[in-house]
Amino acid sequence: MAPQDQTRKTEPEDGVSGETSNTGSRHIAARLLAWYDAHHRDLPWRVTPGAFARGARADPYRVWLSEVMLQQTTVEAVKAYFRNFVEKWPTVEALAAASAEDVMKAWAGLGYYSRARNLKACADLVARQGGQFPDTEAGLRTLPGIGLYTAAAIAAIAFDRPAAVVDGNVERVMTRLHSIETPLGEAKPEIRTLVEKLVPQARPGDFAQAMMDLGATICTPKRPRCMLCPVREDCSALLSDDPERFPVRLPKDNKPLRKGAAFVAERDDGAILLRKRPEKGLLGGMTEVPTTGWTARIDGATTTDAAPFPADWRRAGQIGHVFTHFALELDVFHARIKGDAPAGYFWSLAHDISGEALPTVMKKVIEAAIPGAIKARRA
Ligand code: ADE
Repeated sequence: MAPQDQTRKTEPEDGVSGETSNTGSRHIAARLLAWYDAHHRDLPWRVTPGAFARGARADPYRVWLSEVMLQQTTVEAVKAYFRNFVEKWPTVEALAAASAEDVMKAWAGLGYYSRARNLKACADLVARQGGQFPDTEAGLRTLPGIGLYTAAAIAAIAFDRPAAVVDGNVERVMTRLHSIETPLGEAKPEIRTLVEKLVPQARPGDFAQAMMDLGATICTPKRPRCMLCPVREDCSALLSDDPERFPVRLPKDNKPLRKGAAFVAERDDGAILLRKRPEKGLLGGMTEVPTTGWTARIDGATTTDAAPFPADWRRAGQIGHVFTHFALELDVFHARIKGDAPAGYFWSLAHDISGEALPTVMKKVIEAAIPGAIKARRA
């Protein structure tokens, strides 16, 4: 197992804790880091706060593995899976040498098998390239299954890069700190800019984890524990308002809900089976993966009966999309198939996917089945 440094430290060891100004980004970052030194969660993939300053560092393999698992479920649920994986496969080379079947078995229960397949593909690629993960966000985004958030998280936590790591917890903290009234969907660019300004040059990896821990343990969605918050003096929502009001969300409107299923067939080389929609009508002439009609009520067990051809269809999740006149919920299925494209379909090669005329709803579908298929390949 990779050496881990788990000693709890309470003194701040960062380069900004001597900050005297009582306002501004550096003050907020310094307070957060001091709080993190004392109150961080001990997690099996973490090193002690301040490790980088002492020349120690988190193992990029463990950070990557934990972040991919954390895309699936909660920190508590991930712990046991993480321990099992690193015990079986302590290095990226060991994971690359494992059989896909064994990796799938160890993943079972975490869901989204496409993520496990990407995990294995990523390990194989990194091992082939000498066993070192790229140490920049751009480099990390070229790897299978690593999108914007995961690249930023690994760059910050494993390589101490000043990356803006923005997940749901961080969005909540930022919308409260700044009383952002813009509904969350539209506020994301603003939030990202504010996080970029807040990231300190010293200890950016600890800062990213401090923000996550603050959101998870203090700045919680309901009943935030503001009296224990290290940045309560800077929190606009607390000073002037009700923190629970943030982030602001648009009220759900009453559009009719339609349901259906979408089927992402993937070839071994990563090509995806597509077809063209009729020229007339909704999304006319655009490209799509095969789907059922969008009115059907799909009842669990019968879902794959609606597939356009038989294959080993596995449920990869569900996506939602709101059109002008209705909301759509699609159950997404994924299968690996071989051979020629059936009549009416064509194979789109992996590196061509992002250039296809795919409407947003279809991009969501493909990303749900094959994370990174569109986002990573666009980079
Ligand atoms: N959620 C996602 N990534 C995390 C991390 N590295 N630590 C804690 N919570 C997380």
